[in-house]
Amino acid sequence: LKQELEAEAGQVRSKEELSAFWQKYLGKNGSIPALMKGLRDVPKEDRPAAGKTINEFKVWAEARYQELNAEIERIELEARNKSEQVDITMPGTVRPMGSLHPITLVKNQIIDVFSGMGFEIYEGPEIEDDDHNFTRLNVPKNHPARDMQDTFYVAEDIVLRTQTSGGQIRVMDREKPPIKVLVPGRVFRSDSDATHSPMFHQMEGLVVDKGITLCDLQGMLDKFVQALFGPEVKTRLRPSYFPFTEPSVEVDVSCFECGGKGCPLCKHTGWIEVLGAGVVHHSVLENCGIDPNVYSGFAFGIGIERIAMLKYGINNIGLMFENDLRFLKQFND
Ligand code: PHE
Repeated sequence: LKQELEAEAGQVRSKEELSAFWQKYLGKNGSIPALMKGLRDVPKEDRPAAGKTINEFKVWAEARYQELNAEIERIELEARNKSEQVDITMPGTVRPMGSLHPITLVKNQIIDVFSGMGFEIYEGPEIEDDDHNFTRLNVPKNHPARDMQDTFYVAEDIVLRTQTSGGQIRVMDREKPPIKVLVPGRVFRSDSDATHSPMFHQMEGLVVDKGITLCDLQGMLDKFVQALFGPEVKTRLRPSYFPFTEPSVEVDVSCFECGGKGCPLCKHTGWIEVLGAGVVHHSVLENCGIDPNVYSGFAFGIGIERIAMLKYGINNIGLMFENDLRFLKQFND
């Protein structure tokens, strides 16, 4: 039996086979317990010796079983390690990475600069009433200034906002000075060519407090253009007209391409127009219940597409809305 058991032990390769081996020899109905029971039929004088032999055999068989058990566990562990092995020299799978849209990049940069100066963000509605988009901004009905922006009407007195300036009114209705706020958003005008799109993005800025002047405006805009176009650039204010600011200015930045010497980008003038701004008109303050004899403010409106086109050298505004990946992939700074 010992030989048979030894031979069979040599065949055991798995947990299942090992368990069958236990059943066959050491289990309740196995051969070794059967031997024990057989002792009854052994003549009394031979029983102690036979018992001793069987017992030794049982101890040996059990030890053999433990040995096999350890051996199988080792083999299984080895197999598992092998199957789960990772080859760290294999090349990784490259996952395609998206990038931010140039409009989002510029918008974030502008917000970064001004939130550093303490500006908060407010977003108004894209569908706006005539009151907020025009009338309370000092553009009454039938005023010629309405023609400055070709308006999409949604209903009588309801428009797709043509400018984020309506956000000025909404902010001043809700909050009293000191006010320092940015109003980013989409605006709509019936206009379309290489530099105009019927939908584009603006960033309104509004500051209202005691003693605010045009100098404060220029100081903040200097910081803004320097952050976007480089530490060397300067601003220049030119007189302009907007119904809701007085005085109104057009803000130019010194050409960051040629350093002001003259090149095709600045049309050889050394200056590039970047935004409109001005001192908030006293009527606008009054329209929002703010006393213009106590408070003053400035406002500016930045065209985000325009800044993005200048900064990244994009010559057609349409490229920004086509979602061509070959175009979009270039902006991952
Ligand atoms: N709303 C003006 C425009 O769209 C820009 C502007 C904003 C001008 C604030 C002055 C002050 O052209």
